[in-house]
Amino acid sequence: MTRHAEAGVLVVGSGIAGLTAALHAAAGGCRVTLVTKDVLEHANTRFAQGGIAGVTFEDDRTEDHVRDTLVAGAGLSDERAVRVLVEEGPGRIAELVELGVAFDREPDGSFTKGLEAAHSYPRVLHSGGDATGSAIEGALVARLRESGIRVIEHAFLVDLIVEGGRVTGAELRVDDTRRERIAADAVVLATGGAGQLFSHTTNPAVATGDGIAAALRAGAAVADLEFVQFHPTVLAVGEAFLVSEAVRGEGAILIDDSGRRFAFDDHPDGELAPRDVVARAIARAMDAQAGRPVRLDATALGADFLARRFPTIDRAVRERGLDWAREPIPVTPAAHYLMGGIVTDLDGRTTLPGLYAVGEAARTGVHGANRLASNSLLEGAVFGARAGEAIDADAASRLWPVPAVGASLAATTPSPAAPGAASVAPFSRAALQELLWEDAGLVRTAERLRSATAVLAAWREQSPKPRTQAELEDANLLLVAAHLVAGALARGDSIGAHYRADAVTPVLEGALAC
Ligand code: SIN
Repeated sequence: MTRHAEAGVLVVGSGIAGLTAALHAAAGGCRVTLVTKDVLEHANTRFAQGGIAGVTFEDDRTEDHVRDTLVAGAGLSDERAVRVLVEEGPGRIAELVELGVAFDREPDGSFTKGLEAAHSYPRVLHSGGDATGSAIEGALVARLRESGIRVIEHAFLVDLIVEGGRVTGAELRVDDTRRERIAADAVVLATGGAGQLFSHTTNPAVATGDGIAAALRAGAAVADLEFVQFHPTVLAVGEAFLVSEAVRGEGAILIDDSGRRFAFDDHPDGELAPRDVVARAIARAMDAQAGRPVRLDATALGADFLARRFPTIDRAVRERGLDWAREPIPVTPAAHYLMGGIVTDLDGRTTLPGLYAVGEAARTGVHGANRLASNSLLEGAVFGARAGEAIDADAASRLWPVPAVGASLAATTPSPAAPGAASVAPFSRAALQELLWEDAGLVRTAERLRSATAVLAAWREQSPKPRTQAELEDANLLLVAAHLVAGALARGDSIGAHYRADAVTPVLEGALAC
């Protein structure tokens, strides 16, 4: 045992960021418990298809990945965070390889290159064609199980315990039956995003913003929730299923009902323009054809290539009775990723002593107003490791420092319900998701956001005290929704993924060019 073996660390969440933080903290000698609301493997990481971006090829350049990330962030990224991400990324990718993640390779042994939107170089590594997240999750879970780290599955985060201005543990609901309190010197929130806020999402059912909501209730700074990335292409038949941007990276095109390739109307990069640009172009094309989905034409890639390069998508497409080697498939945009979250420094420290946040739950400053494709797995690996190591060092010093970030970044506070507010339809998860999709989705206006604000305030006021896991999740979604809508209302300009049709100043060329 090392000098601070007594430091108890509680990690909440089991995606790439949480698993990495847990393993690094344990490697430093901390006594780690990891809790997750489902089973270990059921994190959003598992669904990541495209891959992990990183400068691993000799003719790629760190400066180019930095620039691509900053341009995608539309001027709102923190350059220091971006440099940490890009400079430390290759080392963390090498650790994943050591852990057994088999990134796809060419016959000569070199990594296979993948291209996604807004990358100036095909630097995206993938595994199993389009099963990168699953390969990474599998390897990290296997290592965690060998590590002796205590794991509690089906343990839902009810709230953080704050004593004397410091986080000292968490209250959990285990198996949706009993409450348990776990004391900890440090708590790491790795609870992912909140895709379940929207009626169309690529996220699994577990993505209900639990960590962000708990951090808000505990008084930690949370920022940039208005920046939601909508993925352009999700299968519009059956349950929503992501069709990776890598498919367009390999040459698939988007067409409307008349067969017209419309993506170049908005941007010279066409289908490989930034996600927000392509997603809005699709939404507009759908509006013009009475809401019918547009189609992704991958027929030129051929059946063999599609099955080999995209086996997971190929299976999902065929399960829905479609043959994408012969005919274009219907696709529609869906909520995909939350750029904002719990404000952290470069080591995952939040503004509350003893509380850390990593992965999609965190707002490290890397993504600004829009995330570059395949930077999310990289962020989880890089900042998960940094947080794990920082906790180890903070525990040794017993200082639990608080970063000088956050005050200027705190989320915009939602308005309370207006007295005598108009009656609203009863709350349901589906009604909330529809509200956010319609009023705070791809295209926003002050009028729709104000109307959403009133409905959310009324629902929050009427909510009974949550008891079951589903009710606790609903309360979390409502809280995050209220902050998201308040942020979107306060930001009158369009920037990155936040698009205001009633923008007071026009969209900057730089933001569009990302
Ligand atoms: C995709 O494969 O299109 C998603 C990858 C990402 O979100 O970065």
